[in-house]
Amino acid sequence: MPFIEHVSDADLERLALERVVPALQDFGFCYLDGVLGEVAGGAVLQQVIDMHRAGVLQDGLLVGSVPGVHRSSIRGDKIAWVSGAERGCDAINFLLNMIDKMISVCASRLESKKIRERSKAMVACYPGNGAGYVKHVDNPNSDGRCITCIYYLNKDWSAKEHGGILRIFPEGTSFVADIEPLFDRLLFFWSDRRNPHEVQPSFNTRYAITVWYFDSEERAEAKRRFKNLTDSSLKQSS
Ligand code: OGA
Ligand code: OGA
Ligand code: MN
Repeated sequence: MPFIEHVSDADLERLALERVVPALQDFGFCYLDGVLGEVAGGAVLQQVIDMHRAGVLQDGLLVGSVPGVHRSSIRGDKIAWVSGAERGCDAINFLLNMIDKMISVCASRLESKKIRERSKAMVACYPGNGAGYVKHVDNPNSDGRCITCIYYLNKDWSAKEHGGILRIFPEGTSFVADIEPLFDRLLFFWSDRRNPHEVQPSFNTRYAITVWYFDSEERAEAKRRFKNLTDSSLKQSS
């Protein structure tokens, strides 16, 4: 791996136990800054820029269609699903390994959840034309997704100028949490109805990589209910 190990496994474990677990338990979300550092984070960004330039990012899908409603008025991102094993994705793979390590430490401490698998990674770009993603819940209907993790990649982001804030509306509270999509920031939140959220209109190119961790039991049950449940169908159920 050509990247400097910015954070050791012991550091990851400590961050997971001291920061992520308590924040998820108390607030339902948590973010950490500077998780990969400039070099590895920059390499992830470059790989995402290369994918975007190569034209592999496609319009995100929705369930069916609503007459008179444009897909882009609901979600205006362009996406690709990657495993990390693809050519040119080694920095992304490094990121995914890092997130997997943190989640595996968290998993043993969180509720009664059994987290053993996750989705592929969704590389997403909001092109900066004012598109966002309207308020939604990632997993409103028990499709198995338990924790949403989003890694942001945007240097010199100014929310005042560029918008693009992720706003979380924690269930049962009157406050909102505004999270700027800043470079090398890693966000965790419960994927279910506890965390409705929106991406506010974005006026600059906005990159992020998202993975969803599954609760094994809920996922197995969802697979019994729906045939052909794939990573690609994840966004369609929401
Ligand atoms: C989506 C989606 C399909 C795909 O993100 O909404 O379902 O194959 N994408 O990438
Ligand atoms: C999503 C989503 C948030 C973000 O893709 O479901 O809510 O900040 N993205 O990109
Ligand atoms: Mn979402």
